[in-house]
Amino acid sequence: MKYPKEYLDEIKTRLKVSTVVSKSVNLKKRGKEFVGLSPFKTEKTPSFTVNDEKGFYHCFSTAEHGNIFDFIMKTQNLKFGEAVKYLANLAGMQPYTFSKKDEEREKQWNEYSEIFKIYVEYYHNELLKNHDFNFVREYLKKRKLSKEDVLNFKIGYVHYNANFYEKIKSKFSEKNITDTGLFYFDEKKNIYVERFRDRIIFPINSITGQPIALGGRTIKENNYMAKYINSPETPFFKKGSNLYNLDYARKLSNKIENVYLVEGYMDVVGLRSKGIENAVANLGTSLTDRQVLVLNQFYDDLIICFDGDESGYKAALRAAENLIKELKPEKQISFLFLPDNEDPDSFVNKNGKDYFIQFTKDKKISIHNFIFNHYKNETTSDPSSLAIFEKKIRTIAGTIKDDYIKKYVLEFFLEKINLLTPNTNQNKHKTYFKKAKSLKTTQIHFNETKDLSSIEIKEFSFLYFIINNLSLIKNNFNLIQDVKLFSTENKIIYESVFNKILNNQELSINDLSIDSQILNKISKFASIKHILNKLENDEYRLIELLKEIVRDIKNYELEIRIEELESKFSKDLNENTFNELRQLKKLQKIN
Ligand code: UTP
Ligand code: MN
Repeated sequence: MKYPKEYLDEIKTRLKVSTVVSKSVNLKKRGKEFVGLSPFKTEKTPSFTVNDEKGFYHCFSTAEHGNIFDFIMKTQNLKFGEAVKYLANLAGMQPYTFSKKDEEREKQWNEYSEIFKIYVEYYHNELLKNHDFNFVREYLKKRKLSKEDVLNFKIGYVHYNANFYEKIKSKFSEKNITDTGLFYFDEKKNIYVERFRDRIIFPINSITGQPIALGGRTIKENNYMAKYINSPETPFFKKGSNLYNLDYARKLSNKIENVYLVEGYMDVVGLRSKGIENAVANLGTSLTDRQVLVLNQFYDDLIICFDGDESGYKAALRAAENLIKELKPEKQISFLFLPDNEDPDSFVNKNGKDYFIQFTKDKKISIHNFIFNHYKNETTSDPSSLAIFEKKIRTIAGTIKDDYIKKYVLEFFLEKINLLTPNTNQNKHKTYFKKAKSLKTTQIHFNETKDLSSIEIKEFSFLYFIINNLSLIKNNFNLIQDVKLFSTENKIIYESVFNKILNNQELSINDLSIDSQILNKISKFASIKHILNKLENDEYRLIELLKEIVRDIKNYELEIRIEELESKFSKDLNENTFNELRQLKKLQKIN
């Protein structure tokens, strides 16, 4: 059985070679390419390269070469069909099911795309060349669109009396023509009418670049005609999954890290005309999860920039509440709000590319900040209003699917909420236990230790061990070399031991000149005291014990670092912070 080219092409366009390869090979960026160690041979210097623009990998040491299907077949030892299934799944596509219908559907697709191709080409040329359409070209000029923009987007014009149906009816079946949605049937006159007549048309392309639908703008200023109309859904065009200009913008993802999502066709055209090419638009409906998932396959950083008016703001809020649940550690979603009554097209036309990019840097706000600020601004100091606010914010964080992100976004929200209730927070950490009588000795011990932190007690054990096993320490210096202590007094003792060993000086307890009070404290609170006494001179077990103490202290250091990072991550939700955090947590487990 043969897979339709369209299906395989879509897998290829959705998945960069580097995305597929990096699942099994560690890749590093080098110029336009990625390099890594060959998966086909054991080697020490990388000879394996991946080029996303060309869609190929190449291994210089084995001469292996191919696309994503070849890579999966070779490295996972799969047949072609199995590789297709695996990659389709990775690309978020349905598995392909073969049936008799498919052959028919492929035929249908060929006709559909053919009709669109000649339709778009024809009206594009009309706009470029037909003398009667000077007024349309004038309109576009007034809107600051150049001929180059018209060419880039294959913009066309369908005049009022157009009748393309007549031109093609001998070549295609009635069903195939009407399936395109380009015409509708006028029952009174018994003829097919052009849906987009008297409109400027913007072709909407499939992800692989073929036109599959249209957006059409009237150039008449009146109230009885919709300013824009879009193609109806057809067998090959589903509104919620397509984005205007995605076929072009996706190719830039090798060079540019972020993508703008805007509301209108003219926004995309206007931005590209001024040099901002990484923009796509949703098509007159509200943004769907599906569209964001597709965008995420190409870009990690999505900037949603809707119009600076009330409806733009509302659409942004709807999108934010809906999208936050899909947030992933390595993905960023932020919002950019334009000044009143500007849309991206008008704003970039007034201010130019550099200003627009700087404005983005200064003003974009992360999805969780946007949501928090929005609900905060709706809240008064009234207790019930605040309660509703907290509940709402918790509910929204609760919808997030990724557990890590959920945890940190919630933490971020709660930290900000706590700032609103300073009095409650003072007691936040107090926990009450049922009172039970304690023994006198326990009581004394407790009173003495309660001012000590847990790390101090661990450090006392460490020092106690050292002081009582000086010669063993001298011979196993490597075990204590990179320990970091927190309390200043303890650090001084540790460093004096350390320096003496390094300088090969005599090591005896008297030479260490430890303050007697501290020495008392150490012997009193070192919790390993009793264990140590039991071990006597069993060197092997002594060393095991020392290792354990060191591990304990290192883990504490890790904990502190992790806490710092967690709090940082809850603020920036940055991928690097997250990766560092993950590394440390791994270390903590190993330790
Ligand atoms: P806007 O009304 O913001 O228009 O609609 P625009 O993109 O700024 O266009 P210009 O600058 O006036 O030419 C934004 C998008 O909403 C959809 C279209 O997809 C449009 O691009 N829309 C708008 C419709 O579907 N129907 C309409 O009647 C209006
Ligand atoms: Mn506009």
